[in-house]
Amino acid sequence: MIRAHGGRLISRLAPQSDRAKLLEEATSLPALTLNRREFSDLALIANGAMSPLEGFQNQTEYDSVLERSRLSLGIPWTLPVVLTAKEGEINGLRAPFKAALQERNGTIIATIDVEDIYNVDKDREAEKVYLTTDDAHPGVKYIRALSNTYIGGKITLLKPLLDDPRFESYLLDPRETRVLFKTKGWERIVAFQTRNPIHRAHEYLQKCALEAVDGLLIHPIMGETKSDDIPAAVRMDCYLAMMNNYFPTDRVALSILPFAMRYAGPREAVFHAILRKNYGCTHFIVGRDHAGVGDYYGTYDAQNIFLQFEPGELEITPVNFDHSFFCKKCQGMASMKTCAHDKSERVFLSGTKVREMLASGEKLPDEFTRREVAEILESHYGSVSKTA
Ligand code: ADX
Repeated sequence: MIRAHGGRLISRLAPQSDRAKLLEEATSLPALTLNRREFSDLALIANGAMSPLEGFQNQTEYDSVLERSRLSLGIPWTLPVVLTAKEGEINGLRAPFKAALQERNGTIIATIDVEDIYNVDKDREAEKVYLTTDDAHPGVKYIRALSNTYIGGKITLLKPLLDDPRFESYLLDPRETRVLFKTKGWERIVAFQTRNPIHRAHEYLQKCALEAVDGLLIHPIMGETKSDDIPAAVRMDCYLAMMNNYFPTDRVALSILPFAMRYAGPREAVFHAILRKNYGCTHFIVGRDHAGVGDYYGTYDAQNIFLQFEPGELEITPVNFDHSFFCKKCQGMASMKTCAHDKSERVFLSGTKVREMLASGEKLPDEFTRREVAEILESHYGSVSKTA
């Protein structure tokens, strides 16, 4: 089984026997409030998905990630994982101190041993992480909306987190996926990241990759996404429709990842791969414009960034795919690499185009998406337009 990133799968969940006492003690600590992204990050630090992180990054780690795409000890790491100070929260407090971490409704869920409070330059972070300072980029917009004071320190989770109870049975943590792979006898596992319903190009990538390994983990992101992305519950129905109709259950597993999309293109692609390595996957699919948005990144930048690291450093192997589509002449799925025919023969729809078609009540072509998935999307958009 592939080792966790940095060598050891972290767990920051307090032992069951200590939780009640620690929760009680936490009520008398200063409280820091988590936003949606920070809540997701907390869950993934605690369950080991972000190994070797044990908490929110201090300034040394943050600077190292921005400047070198590595943690201070040299381990590859491409995105900052940070906690922002909210209005008035840290007035008069000086590190080190212990604080409670609470949800926006005031429920305490964790503690943090604050070791560092530091100020950051948002333009620098935007430029390094998102490769743009344009406020129209959703990742840049997100960081600009928050304070420029960050809080670093190790966390301890005091109760298991469940972001959305509807998806509980599909929320495996890294230890559980590792057990699952072992039980199934899979040694080489390819992970597929997505924030969309699975369309035929996705399915093509997944099945091509699966041909060369033992198992496929479909691992959609179910944390915060852009408001115009398809809602999580609708996507879940689409994933289940695919699992029930098009994937062999002895070779394919579905689990969700409660991670908030950054839309950071190349840097996020490496980050996505590291997360999946911690879940026990050996391979990771990277297609066209992975984790991209708009025109901020080149089509294959997210594949090329992997070349910046020595092959043995990441340990998980990227599996790259060219732009894929249905070709009417080939009478099947193909990619720029394998199809000899003219562009006019290819059925390709952008996310924007799909949303437009659904909004205007047009049916999605079978060459683009499986009928079972199209029907779920058409019915969702139909009901949205009726209530609008
Ligand atoms: S992403 O933000 O998660 O990357 P999306 O869900 O659209 O967005 O993509 C999931 C994965 O499929 C990514 O690796 C992406 O590069 C790849 N992908 C999506 N559409 C295509 C396509 N038509 N051809 C090749 N790769 C694709």
